Amino acid sequence: CKGINGLEKVVLREARGSSAEVYLYGGQVTSWKNDHGEELLFVSSKATFKPPKAIRGGIPICFPQFSSHGVLEQHGFARNRFWSIDTNPPPFPTSSSNKTFVDLLLKPSEEDAKIWPHSFEFRLRVALVPGGDLMLTSRIRNTDSKPFNFTFAYHTYFSVSDISEVRVEGLETLDYLDNLQNRARFTEQGDALTFESEVDKVYVSTPTKIAILDHEKKRTFVLRKDGLPDAVVWNPWDKKAKAMPDFGDDEYKHMLCVEAAAIEKPITLKPGEEWRGRQELSAVPSSYCSGQ
Ligand code: BG6
Repeated sequence: CKGINGLEKVVLREARGSSAEVYLYGGQVTSWKNDHGEELLFVSSKATFKPPKAIRGGIPICFPQFSSHGVLEQHGFARNRFWSIDTNPPPFPTSSSNKTFVDLLLKPSEEDAKIWPHSFEFRLRVALVPGGDLMLTSRIRNTDSKPFNFTFAYHTYFSVSDISEVRVEGLETLDYLDNLQNRARFTEQGDALTFESEVDKVYVSTPTKIAILDHEKKRTFVLRKDGLPDAVVWNPWDKKAKAMPDFGDDEYKHMLCVEAAAIEKPITLKPGEEWRGRQELSAVPSSYCSGQ
């Protein structure tokens, strides 16, 4: 159906009441609601929904380049291309029974081939699992006659009540590259991460499970990932927020990006090879997680 500015979107609804919205522009999830109808993702009130600008919020796909780690535009071009609905995707190795899902497809246009001269098929499945989990599976196939490399991220904007009350568990003691210090490498000290200023870090070789605890909402997001060794943590804080035209001045208090990614070691695909990267998000009442 039609979304903001007439852009096409797909709405997924699961029997128990959870839902998700996916824009064909960017192949981007812009809404994920639990079965009480509460929005779990952050989308800026200033997001423009106007190509060629990427939509500010939800889950932008960063491909074939994360950030400015290469010659392409920031975060690559997948997030500002029109994807199509894939009506006949090749079979998925995991069962899709009981899931509500949509399959999207991105293939490079002639213009894309000029800026990134590689032929590929990028299939994205967005699925709601009974109980309300949101699962994104990306399959990228090299349909070219030569190998190519890429970096990747699911740039997920979680909605949080108050950033100063949020903790992230699962990244403590790990190494990270600090984007605010020329990607210098440091080791995270101590306990769970908390936030009191701008953060823009790429944690490397992270565990498959990361938890984002929202103390005020008494909600924990659990991010599970597969094929995506790294994790970006980003919050622009007040100064950068003011500098972004499509982001409200105070909105940094109500969002946190935790991004399942493959950045430090780019993925190489030989002709005919396929790569798969999956992230599953759950939102559970915090008490259920205590002691984990
Ligand atoms: C994060 C990067 O993933 O995305 C940051 O680590 C960047 O460096 C942020 O500022 C937002 O990027 P953009 O292009 O959507 O403004």
